[in-house]
Amino acid sequence: MTENEVARVLAACDVPEYGVGREVLHAQPVNFALDNRSGLNDPRGQLGQSLAVDMHMVTVDAASVQNLVRCIKRCDLELAGIASSAYASGISALVEDEQELGAACIDMGGGSTSVSIFMKKHMIYTDAVRMGGDHVTSDISMGLGVPTAAAERIKTFCGGVHATGADDRDMIDIGGDTGDWEHDRRTVSRAELIGIMRPRVEEILEEVRARLDAAGFDQLPSQQIVLTGGASQVMGLDGLASRILGQQVRLGRPLRVHGLPQSATGPGFASAVGLSLFAANPQDEWWDFDMPSDRHSGSSIRRAVRWFKDNW
Ligand SMILES: Nc1ncnc2c1ncn2[C@@H]1O[C@H](COP(=O)(O)OP(=O)(O)O)[C@@H](O)[C@H]1O
Ligand SMILES: [Mg+2]
Repeated sequence: MTENEVARVLAACDVPEYGVGREVLHAQPVNFALDNRSGLNDPRGQLGQSLAVDMHMVTVDAASVQNLVRCIKRCDLELAGIASSAYASGISALVEDEQELGAACIDMGGGSTSVSIFMKKHMIYTDAVRMGGDHVTSDISMGLGVPTAAAERIKTFCGGVHATGADDRDMIDIGGDTGDWEHDRRTVSRAELIGIMRPRVEEILEEVRARLDAAGFDQLPSQQIVLTGGASQVMGLDGLASRILGQQVRLGRPLRVHGLPQSATGPGFASAVGLSLFAANPQDEWWDFDMPSDRHSGSSIRRAVRWFKDNW
């Protein structure tokens, strides 16, 4: 989905080609060099002849962003800006040391799993795997022959990825809702359920591993991995992940915003909380995007009247 390019942009703003039909979503300076001195976080106030900057650019397919913008407009919502959810999860779920020394935030959502790597407080890489918890649910639904809603319930209440001997005897009722007690009563062992879930979760983690390898994650001084997102709540996931991704794995949830209702403090809210943090600290790039044209179209009362006219 996203494409990474660390572009060495000289002071003359020599932006490299990043492909037709793509737009820059984030462009963040990750390093400044003044003459022969590199590794500066902020060159302001220093004297020199030539200034260079390393930018990390995240580009996205312009059409998919325009579709999102359209959806939001049609809901009569005002768009304040656009950000990568992988980035948002990273800024909410990683602690300062992790962002500084090197860490990856893996946000396992419903339809996709995003990966973002942070180093020296900057995001230096992001990508996504097109699989998430919903794929696990659909595997259960097909494997056990139950509707999606039942599969989702079975997954969240009884699911897991690590079976023990006791799971052979732990029977789960997967009866349907036809009311036909004789024909519709079925049970399955928890071990069998785990047998359906585990291969998909492994597949997702293997794909994440491939993304981390492509990014050269193993070269970072610290290689902390933080799992978050709704689908990271599968029981036993951290153990499986540390076997596939590396030893330093922890489960994470959104930090830094206090006083949230209990229901919004879970890992599923990592990117939503991160977006709020990002919106509260807007950067220039936030405003670069092609905003809906009526952003500043007058007072809120006029907007309310227009909304009323449009909708009634
Ligand atoms: N307790 C749980 N155990 C396992 N999976 C869960 C649990 N709660 C939510 N999920 C899964 O998390 C996924 C949704 O994650 P979420 O981060 O909320 O979505 P998204 O970020 O894609 O909007 C769904 O596939 C859902 O089944
Ligand atoms: Mg999520």
